[in-house]
Amino acid sequence: MVYPIVKFGDPVLENEAADVTEFDTPELHKLLEDMFESMYAAKGVGLAAPQIGIGKKIAVIDTSNGEDPGEKLVLINPVVLRVEGRQEGEEGCLSIPGFREQVRRGKRVTIRAYNAKGEVYEKTGEDLLARAFQHETDHLYGRLYITHISALKRDLMKRKIKKLQRAGDWG
Ligand code: NI
Repeated sequence: MVYPIVKFGDPVLENEAADVTEFDTPELHKLLEDMFESMYAAKGVGLAAPQIGIGKKIAVIDTSNGEDPGEKLVLINPVVLRVEGRQEGEEGCLSIPGFREQVRRGKRVTIRAYNAKGEVYEKTGEDLLARAFQHETDHLYGRLYITHISALKRDLMKRKIKKLQRAGDWG
């Protein structure tokens, strides 16, 4: 099932999500399946559960855009363990469609998370995957990428979004 993506302005995006305490349940497996489906439908490389209105610490990532099943990652209750180096690059978010900004992230990022079965794992990603690890983990703590840009740019973006909301073009 493809869920509609929650847009900026909905409080679910700016609140810390709840830890997952039950693993390997049919509900969790179905939710993960739906999250991958929703992410591919929206042409994203990552999706966090709050973005479909579910306040739980779950995210999915696939930097291959569905080309390589080996790249599919499930992050449950993730934490960032290490950030090394720096990268500058454009970043966007499915919940803030039509906008992109330069965001500085780590070049190499190590996370610890649980998989669907409740097994803990650690994984290090570089470049796009490192960026996705930080972006998606941020989501689960209620932080959007626009918290990492200047206040001036953020205010400008918020004003543009307000205009779109007033025109009924935001949803
Ligand atoms: Ni996002």
